[in-house]
Amino acid sequence: MSRIEIIGGEQLKGELKIQGSKNAALPIIAATILNKGITILKNCPKILDVYHMVNILEELGCIITWEQNTLMVNSKKTSISCLPEDSVSKMRSSVLFLGAILGRFHEVTIAYPGGCSIGKRPINYHLDAIKRMNVEQEFLGENEDIIHCYTDKITGNDIFFERSTVGATQNVILTAVLSEGITKIYNAAKEPEVEELCKYLIRAGAKIYGEGTSYIEVEGVKELHDVEFTLSPDRIVAGTYMAAVAATQGDVVFHHAPSQHLEATIDVLRKVGCFIEVKGDVIKVGNHARPKPINIITEPYPAFPTDMQSQLMSILCLAEGKSIIVENIFESRFQNIGELTNMGAQVHIDESGKIAQITGVNSMHGAQLYAHDLRGGAALVISALAAEGSSVIQCTDYIERGYEDISRDLRLLGAKIKYHCG
Ligand code: EPZ
Repeated sequence: MSRIEIIGGEQLKGELKIQGSKNAALPIIAATILNKGITILKNCPKILDVYHMVNILEELGCIITWEQNTLMVNSKKTSISCLPEDSVSKMRSSVLFLGAILGRFHEVTIAYPGGCSIGKRPINYHLDAIKRMNVEQEFLGENEDIIHCYTDKITGNDIFFERSTVGATQNVILTAVLSEGITKIYNAAKEPEVEELCKYLIRAGAKIYGEGTSYIEVEGVKELHDVEFTLSPDRIVAGTYMAAVAATQGDVVFHHAPSQHLEATIDVLRKVGCFIEVKGDVIKVGNHARPKPINIITEPYPAFPTDMQSQLMSILCLAEGKSIIVENIFESRFQNIGELTNMGAQVHIDESGKIAQITGVNSMHGAQLYAHDLRGGAALVISALAAEGSSVIQCTDYIERGYEDISRDLRLLGAKIKYHCG
């Protein structure tokens, strides 16, 4: 089992470039099925989740080549509309192939994507919306956990989401791009990654309006064409490293950072006491005192993101007072509590499981730690960097799902951190 060893107490200092966005890359990789040709995707992060999605493309018959961080996909010869069951259960984001394959072949067979440690993660909004687009659905297999969708023609329709949902918004867009008629999406997710998927599709010839707002309109077109696209930097990776600077009371300059997508994170880090200066895609972060306590609620974009919640908790465990975090997006995203308690933190979760009360302590000590999910694992790295003494974090392949090389990046900033392959 892979692990990361950290000797805490170093203040992070230096400069770092931010990698490409995982959550922009994954839906766009699925969307490459739609253009029946060439996609050149630049600034693509080399992370486990991307490799997994690319493997699925190859299983579907696409030709893949890499040149450093440029991914080239030729989807001309794709002919299979059935997703391998183990592929989907391994990673939720493969559910985005549902809309892409359906959009191209008018048929798709996909296993129900598994939940994960942060929540059950159902796909009812995806299926209910796509059904409204003249798509038949049947559930196959002895557990009825294989979804078969088929249609002779995808027709545009009005789609109303009762809550903001990133993946379902993206799947409807993927289904609608080559459909007949107009699809109007009300209460669409406004996350930057939805906007970026639309920008990629528009670059490939799709007709989409309102991307980045809660109302998106897709006018179906006959076909898409070859496209070259450069991914934005990853706002959660940037936020994670900024949180590490806050927790270790360091000073770091981040380059190639998606400043315009970090407003809520920057606001929260300023409230805990950081000095933050933004100039274009350069963000300077410094913290020279013990963090201040704050109360925060996670909400859809542009509010404070759930994907930064665990990282903020790592900071607040060291704050000079009591803080409250309300996790409004996922039902079990406080997986780190046990690990943080082992380090001397004082965190209490209320009976609803949505509210964490944190009493900051002066210092935490290193411990044997276990990552339970992607962002929780990255948050444990932050806690270990700020703790006294050494820590070992196991199950770090969770972290490799979203961070190209967290040990390399933090070592560049002076951290005493070492990765051991399992
Ligand atoms: C995306 O997941 C991100 N993943 C998540 O990032 C992120 O936390 C999430 O959006 C919220 O911002 C990718 O972009 C690959 P949702 P997604 O549909 O699309 C419920 C990370 O760490 N829901 O907006 O799955 C769902 O259970 C990951 O990079 C239904 O009930 O999120 C959740 O509670 C973690 N039924 C809430 O809605 C549905 O049909 C929001 O989910 C769909 C969702």
